Amino acid sequence: MSCILGIESSCDETAAAVVDGRLRVRSSVVASQYELHAEYGGVVPEIASRAHVERVLPVVRAALDEAGIAIEEVDAVAAGIRPGLIGSLLVGTSLAKAIAFALDRPFHAIDHVAAHLFAGFLREYSAEENSDRAVPPPSVPSPALGLVVSGGHTSLFRIEGACAVTLLGRTIDDAVGEAFDKAAVMLGLPHPGGPNLERCAVGGNPDALKFARPQLPNPLDFSLSGLKTKLLYEVRGVPQGRGAQATFLRSSADLSDARRADLAASFQKAAVAQVIDRLERAAEQEAPQALLVGGGVVANAHLREELASFCARRLLQLIVPARAHCVDNAAMIAGFAALRRVEGDRGDDLSVPAEPVSLLARGTKPKRVH
Ligand code: KG4
Ligand code: ZN
Repeated sequence: MSCILGIESSCDETAAAVVDGRLRVRSSVVASQYELHAEYGGVVPEIASRAHVERVLPVVRAALDEAGIAIEEVDAVAAGIRPGLIGSLLVGTSLAKAIAFALDRPFHAIDHVAAHLFAGFLREYSAEENSDRAVPPPSVPSPALGLVVSGGHTSLFRIEGACAVTLLGRTIDDAVGEAFDKAAVMLGLPHPGGPNLERCAVGGNPDALKFARPQLPNPLDFSLSGLKTKLLYEVRGVPQGRGAQATFLRSSADLSDARRADLAASFQKAAVAQVIDRLERAAEQEAPQALLVGGGVVANAHLREELASFCARRLLQLIVPARAHCVDNAAMIAGFAALRRVEGDRGDDLSVPAEPVSLLARGTKPKRVH
């Protein structure tokens, strides 16, 4: 049975995982740097890359130990090579290349956004079915729609295989996760914003505040900034003055708990409704057989419910990751490499550079990416 070691260090999570050729997760270790950045209210790139340097070797060792394999038993090495903070990406990428070089194994340069998209194919490992022959390789339904909703990305794709992903639409401003995080700050909720906003929304009235649904030149693009502004003015009042001189009448501390819950529920409903609206349009256009989703926001229960009913309405197969594989992890990196290997990909040259931008996000026109 083949074993792929995956390493992920694109932002503030140092992660390593071992996944087999059938995408069964033998280990997945994630070291979050949350506590290092909390006091700054966001990720500080220099602190992130230094922490990756300190943590990456112990995390890789832990992933190998948990999988019960020696490093020599690794058949291929994969790293998230783009997009992300360049200083952070370089740590995981350099280590993965060094291991591949030292062991003379294939190296897979993995796009983090694409890895999120295919994370729903990861499976639990079972010792009883531990040979590649015991389980057939996963096959990607084609054509399928793909949706990534994370802190850094909100994009829709046409999928015709793990190596054929075409961008259909994307956010023109904030990613959905970023909007959740900023809305949480506006409501006076602590970091991490997305999960805390979801918790706060429980019991709130989702129809307390109505948001307009943005209409954009590309009907498959997203825009979240209008939702944020509407929420800001609702919480703090319309600002007096402009720019840095603007002052607000109220603060989030003036909200009652009940009102805060209503606003959180309304924001969550509006953000999720926009995602489903774009999916409806894309389904009309593409006549897909399945929907693949991924990214941190897919951990949100309301979004998961709405995705399930969208797929039931449209008779689509829904391929959705377990919650632990929605947020950043390395199992999705190794798993995507395994999927590409099933499709005949034998790896990338060690000279492939780490890059801050996803190939799946480049350009304003839909683009096919291999
Ligand atoms: O995929 P991810 O771990 O990192 C990126 O690649 O961006 O996604 C993190 C994002 C954050 O914005 C976080 O607030 C959001 O996913 N998120 C959620 C939930 N859990 C994580 N948003 C809404 N509801 C959640 N339960
Ligand atoms: Zn991510």
